Amino acid sequence: MAERVWWRDGVLYQVYPRSFADSDGDGVGDLRGVIDRLDHLAWLGIDGLWLNPTFPSPNADWGFDVADYRGVHPDLGTPDDLDELVAKAGERGIRVLLDLVPNHTSDEHPWFVDARGSRDAAHRDWYVWSDPAPDGSPPNNWQSIFAGPAWELDERTGQYYLHLFHRKQPDLDWWNDAVRDEFDAILGYWYERGIAGFRIDVAHGIVKDRELRDNPAAREDDVVQYRRIGQRPEFSMLRPDVHDVLRRWRRLTDDHGGERVLIGETWVHDLETLATFYGGGVDELHLAFNFVFISAGFDAPTLAPIVARTEELLPQHAWPVWTMGNHDVTRFPTRWAEGDGRKVRLALMLLLTLRGTPVLYYGDEVGMPQADVPDDRIVDPVAVLGQPGRRGRDGARTPMPWSAEPGAGFTEPGVEPWLPFGDLTANVADQRADPGSVLTLVRDLIALRRARADLRTGAYAQLDAPAGAWAYRRGEATIVALNLSDGPLSIADARGRVAVGTDRARDGAGVDGRIELGAWEGVVLTA
Ligand code: GLC
Repeated sequence: MAERVWWRDGVLYQVYPRSFADSDGDGVGDLRGVIDRLDHLAWLGIDGLWLNPTFPSPNADWGFDVADYRGVHPDLGTPDDLDELVAKAGERGIRVLLDLVPNHTSDEHPWFVDARGSRDAAHRDWYVWSDPAPDGSPPNNWQSIFAGPAWELDERTGQYYLHLFHRKQPDLDWWNDAVRDEFDAILGYWYERGIAGFRIDVAHGIVKDRELRDNPAAREDDVVQYRRIGQRPEFSMLRPDVHDVLRRWRRLTDDHGGERVLIGETWVHDLETLATFYGGGVDELHLAFNFVFISAGFDAPTLAPIVARTEELLPQHAWPVWTMGNHDVTRFPTRWAEGDGRKVRLALMLLLTLRGTPVLYYGDEVGMPQADVPDDRIVDPVAVLGQPGRRGRDGARTPMPWSAEPGAGFTEPGVEPWLPFGDLTANVADQRADPGSVLTLVRDLIALRRARADLRTGAYAQLDAPAGAWAYRRGEATIVALNLSDGPLSIADARGRVAVGTDRARDGAGVDGRIELGAWEGVVLTA
């Protein structure tokens, strides 16, 4: 593992463009805003930027309902802005990834407008259509992830179309070669425009059962996502045939050269299935998001075995990817750390020292908590369409807290942003000036990773540690010791110097044999 590979050795950062930085004072973040903030990302030590959907969209699902896969949403800017972002990021050694949404289009995409025109329309079979059951009800029992049945009757043509999400997000038919060819062309289009890769939305679910068989009922011990819809999406999503498409994209991506990367939203709930998305290790996804890790509790007995098992199951040459949140889940400082600053710091130390590519979600670097979005500001379809009380995902998507000033450095003072500001106490301006801040800790951990091959590519080996602690060696000469408990404890066989501690007062201290850690404290020791 001598040679450097940017996406393996580096740190990725997810930007939700509507909420990162608003350059024109309309309350909505945009691409020029991202350009204006590239220096922050370069200072932090980021190697790649994943932008949530940037395509034209009616925003029924905030960009995940795409109306043109080759365009840029006017709210976010122009194609020239995107080119400029790619160029300026490149000058800072940062590559740009787009969010590809191949499972479905918008119902306003010209393909679907054509498809619903008549049963023999040119694009009719680009989507999944089916006749009603004899009693007029939907063709099978599939449920939408958002709410209700996954089928919508198109009155005019008398058939149902499939939508696993919003009814304004009709599913494409991935059995159709024309669809496959078109997406090859879309990938190629963006590669030629300088895009370094894609995050692939719903990468585990784009191919549907050809016979549209009913999903089996959820079992009591199933994950909440399955219990909520009352079924396991065995036929609507988790088809093995998806691997043909992933292999095809990998070939196409490799053929374009230039170290491009495909990262899948592989939202599966067991590590055995997760490992399959890497194929033989070099022929499917480069990185597959680990939702088993994200969904687990923040404690050593739960997380350490997940990491160990992931290490064990991934095929040779496959590379793990770790993240603590994204635009679909509650932010980790709230979900994992419950607002406790010590836990926020410890979680970030964990993320940035595991073997695998870390992905930060915007705001993670200052410990941005989940925002409490009032009822009258909720815009997420999950909350709007879902059962009463389902809060949706808006609280994880509020504007980036650049400062505590009016406008938060996100937009002009006095402008009301598209989603309300959350708590601005944790913000970039204040934390940059503070050597003891979360932001400084994150920057220093990233710098340490960059400087030490052990942390980038060194093997992961779990060490003996008392209950509540988690210790591991990385490579030859780096030890990470974390105390995930409410009391002090001590870890044996720890030697070296504290390169970075969550308590910065410890930095530089020598350790010879045993280290005492306070509650929720962690250190990285180097020989
Ligand atoms: C993915 C996205 C989510 C979106 C859904 C439908 O899960 O991450 O935000 O709503 O797909 O596109």
